[in-house]
Amino acid sequence: MFVHSTSLPHLLPPSAYFSREQHEREQQAVLATAWHLVGTWNEVPKDGDFLTTELLGEPLQIRNCNGQLAALSNVCAHRHCLLTHERRGNNPRPRCQYHGWEYHADGQTARIPQARSFAPIDREQLRLATYRVESCGQLIFVSLAAAGEGLRDFLGPMYEVCQDRFGPQWSCFLNADADYPVNWKIPVENSLEAYHVPCIHPQTFGQDPGDARSQHLLNERHTAFGTGLPFDVHSRIGAWFQERESWFLRRLGLQPTREYWQHHCFPNLLMSFTDAISLCHAVIPTGPTTSRAVVRQFGRNGRGQNRGTRLLAAGWGRMAGGITRRILAEDRALYEDIQRGLQSSQHRGILGRCEERIFRFQQYLQQACSLQSPPCVVPQRHSELSIP
Ligand code: FES
Ligand SMILES: [Fe+2]
Repeated sequence: MFVHSTSLPHLLPPSAYFSREQHEREQQAVLATAWHLVGTWNEVPKDGDFLTTELLGEPLQIRNCNGQLAALSNVCAHRHCLLTHERRGNNPRPRCQYHGWEYHADGQTARIPQARSFAPIDREQLRLATYRVESCGQLIFVSLAAAGEGLRDFLGPMYEVCQDRFGPQWSCFLNADADYPVNWKIPVENSLEAYHVPCIHPQTFGQDPGDARSQHLLNERHTAFGTGLPFDVHSRIGAWFQERESWFLRRLGLQPTREYWQHHCFPNLLMSFTDAISLCHAVIPTGPTTSRAVVRQFGRNGRGQNRGTRLLAAGWGRMAGGITRRILAEDRALYEDIQRGLQSSQHRGILGRCEERIFRFQQYLQQACSLQSPPCVVPQRHSELSIP
């Protein structure tokens, strides 16, 4: 059942999806202090492994240093070159591709070729910035804020869920990062309602479960949607798929719940869970009308089972990854038309009850950005959060 009984106002005006002022307000108010998904442990499994990313305009290098994570600026203190443009790699120390300056993981300069040429040198001045980095399960998060709440507080009740659903029994079968030529809130809000399912996903999800088969949780910093599977109770393909998935789970010694839960941790982290799949999807702004998605999907890996079951688990994980890739493409095909429409809309927009998770998100954003906001009409229901 939905929480609200009437339609809801679209709190954000169309300009909130393209104005530079709003972009900067959001960066300062919510994004700079948030924890952002940047990758997974299986991308940096060994000492010296690194991955690079750009987070809110900061080029970063995330490193495995003897099993500990470090995040530092990927911009050289010498003459500003990116240390590396490789997406992933391995080296004993961060090393600049231009003149070979090397750094320690704490950002301090290490070896400088022809160091005498730079005397007198103030190594403190040349230290690279470092950032807070933490992991939860196999997911790696970075915060650009020097201080503030840790990842556990940031994720709240979802921290334990992430530890479990992205833990050692799970392996990553899909890495589908993408650049979107649209404001970050467009993909986020698209994920917060199933109303579009019959139009956009008729072959994949089928029908919208609707009020009767939906459960919405609307919390202070998190919302969730739960339903039974298959999404479409009349879909023969959906029923067939669920039967196979239940058989697969029993082979792993698990009892299927046939539940689907989709979570939104404000501002930009989305996670979807079925019995056999754990998907995380973060949408990070790269400008007022551009964003980047970090998408990782995990499946059960059959750890501790015989080889046949492990192979079956890997096959299932890859197949589920293929379906998710298709669903992402179905949504992605719309985004530019939404962005285009927002830039010329003569309406404020309106939200149905079924879109109340978008309302809660917009309310949070409006409050965080200190814009005018109506009184909070949403019950705070953290305690009711029950997740499979
Ligand atoms: S710019 Fe990095 S070593 Fe010169
Ligand atoms: Fe969708």
